[in-house]
Amino acid sequence: MFKLVIDPQKESGYIHPEIQGHFSEHLGRCIYGGVYVGEDSDIPNTNGMRNDVVSALKELNLPVLRWPGGCFADEYHWKDGIGDKSKRKKMINTNWGGVVEDNSFGTHEYMELCRQLGCKTYINGNVGSGTVQEMSEWVEYMTFDGVSPMAELRKENGHEAPWTVDYFGVGNENWGCGGNMLPEYYADQFRRYQSYVKNYNPEKKISKIACGPNAQDYEWTETVLRQCHKLSGSWNNAHGFMDGISLHYYTLPYDWAKKGAATGFNEKEWYMTLSKTLFMEELVRKHSAIIDAFNPDGNIALIVDEWGTWYDVEEGTNPGFLYQQNTMRDALVAGINLNIFNKNCKRVKMANIAQLVNVLQAVILTEGDQMIKTPTYHAFNLYKYHQGGTLIDSHINSEMIGLEKEYMVPNLHESCSKDKDGKYHITLTNLSCSDSYEIETTLTGNNVASVKAQILAGKMDDKNTFDEPDNVTVKDFDGATTEGDKIRFTIPACSVMHLEVELV
Ligand code: AHR
Repeated sequence: MFKLVIDPQKESGYIHPEIQGHFSEHLGRCIYGGVYVGEDSDIPNTNGMRNDVVSALKELNLPVLRWPGGCFADEYHWKDGIGDKSKRKKMINTNWGGVVEDNSFGTHEYMELCRQLGCKTYINGNVGSGTVQEMSEWVEYMTFDGVSPMAELRKENGHEAPWTVDYFGVGNENWGCGGNMLPEYYADQFRRYQSYVKNYNPEKKISKIACGPNAQDYEWTETVLRQCHKLSGSWNNAHGFMDGISLHYYTLPYDWAKKGAATGFNEKEWYMTLSKTLFMEELVRKHSAIIDAFNPDGNIALIVDEWGTWYDVEEGTNPGFLYQQNTMRDALVAGINLNIFNKNCKRVKMANIAQLVNVLQAVILTEGDQMIKTPTYHAFNLYKYHQGGTLIDSHINSEMIGLEKEYMVPNLHESCSKDKDGKYHITLTNLSCSDSYEIETTLTGNNVASVKAQILAGKMDDKNTFDEPDNVTVKDFDGATTEGDKIRFTIPACSVMHLEVELV
């Protein structure tokens, strides 16, 4: 019997809905074919956005969407993507597959997508190959409500009112595809570029995100924080230079040379993958400790704006399109990461899984006019109840399992929150691909009035396909019994659960 102890009296922080954010890049079939098909497509759409995809994403309460990249952002010149579509520049997407980018999806289309999704906006600016003026004008174009050249241009292009930019990334992976900079150099660039990301509307402040480290590059975090954390004293920059610093970490079963297959993997690869994803816990803790040293007040956030699994691409697909299938293993990866973000919600205020549709650990896959929801989609659907909740102290007495010493993982992994109506939401993952476990949950000192539970379970490489779209899907779970402050149930192998609990 494994004991999950929850102390409803111990509230440990606000879970920003943005922790369940997404990332969409001009990469493969994420934007084109995935979310955007254009107004003239036979695929049912609203202003060019696929109706099936938008409606599936809305069900997740998708809180925020990062765009346009990624490495694509490091070469993106926003003026190429505005105005008459027939006159927009066509160019080669040098990062991703060498295909033609016709710029038919640009700023207006992104804002329209976010409007339809009802989500916050997160634009990533180009520090790698763009100018300060270009970045400054983009912000003016999107957010200035007055007389100015960029505001006039926006109006000429059919959008009278300014939009809201909630988050602005000042560069992407500037240690790599964003210019191969050294941290000292990037920190100076950040100070300069961010000065011109102006807050034209003091009521809708833009949160500025600095480019953070690649995984365990703690020196990058330390240097950028040291050089950039101080208050600037400028009128529009009450929180200083930065509101957040990003972190990118991908889960690869093996390494960058041989990543591993998305399907048809064995037990050894199952545990390797889950143990690699659990490394996120250490990354978040250590980077947070560096931020704590410079910013004890906690207002500089850690923004995990690229995470998820990265496998070898599906056979027969363009290697630059990063198209991969998605199995129960990915659902577990999602559950583990979302639990980690919840438990670190004092610092982690946004996270964006890579990527939205058809790329890497996507929640949705499309083929022509068909669409499927992946196991990762269903995991997000079980976790959505945490959005905007209060983290509640919880602990489970897990045991270490696995096949090799190097890749042992805890058998169980959890988090708990309380929503605004006073209901408790527990998410629990069973990392064993073979064993079920009996669980006794105690809500210390509080009698349980009711429990509703849902589960996503299957074999480790179960997936959804266009022929079998509902092979893996969420089901109601009626195996929980209650007694006083206890809930007892058996969690099946390889599963993700959500329990909604009301107390007396
Ligand atoms: O998500 C794919 C790529 O991974 C992004 O473009 C880049 O930022 C990262 O290296």
